[in-house]
Amino acid sequence: MVKKILAAIDGSEGAGRALELAAGMAAEAHASLWIVNVIGNFGFSPDELEQFRRTEGGSIVDVLESLSGQWLNEAREKAALLGATDIHLVSHTGDVAEAIIGAARDCSAGVIVVGRRGRGLMRELMLGSVSQKLASVSPRPVLIVP
Ligand SMILES: Nc1ncnc2c1ncn2[C@@H]1O[C@H](COP(=O)(O)OP(=O)(O)OP(=O)(O)O)[C@@H](O)[C@H]1O
Ligand SMILES: [Mg+2]
Repeated sequence: MVKKILAAIDGSEGAGRALELAAGMAAEAHASLWIVNVIGNFGFSPDELEQFRRTEGGSIVDVLESLSGQWLNEAREKAALLGATDIHLVSHTGDVAEAIIGAARDCSAGVIVVGRRGRGLMRELMLGSVSQKLASVSPRPVLIVP
């Protein structure tokens, strides 16, 4: 029986469905639920992001961090309504799939739950790049929610 479930969210509808499934599973199995959001680099290098922080007074990075916090708090509320009781929030930066795998390792998650698609706009692709990379390289089981 899985005792720790990690749901990865990016504020998208697909991730919302993944969270619902993960929260329901956690409630039924009396498992703890870890919810992670990764603040991606949006094509910028860590150095460039650091430069934004300095020259733009941090505005871009601040917006990303505040959005991440908002999504995580909303996800916690939704998961609690669905019956999950032991809920942990995790915020990471860097390569999204690698950070999700790292978060799963840190909390010893028995399964990683993600949406098939996220906020990306390439609707013709069946799988987003994050779900595809997780399915390809994650050492832990990955549940991809349509
Ligand atoms: N930054 C993130 N933090 C946490 N989970 C994420 C993040 N991005 C995506 N995910 C998870 O991966 C799932 C699939 O998203 P993915 O990014 O692969 O698709 P996409 O956004 O449609 O495509 P792409 O990003 O490749 O343009 C999401 O539903 C969510 O569960
Ligand atoms: Mg995406």
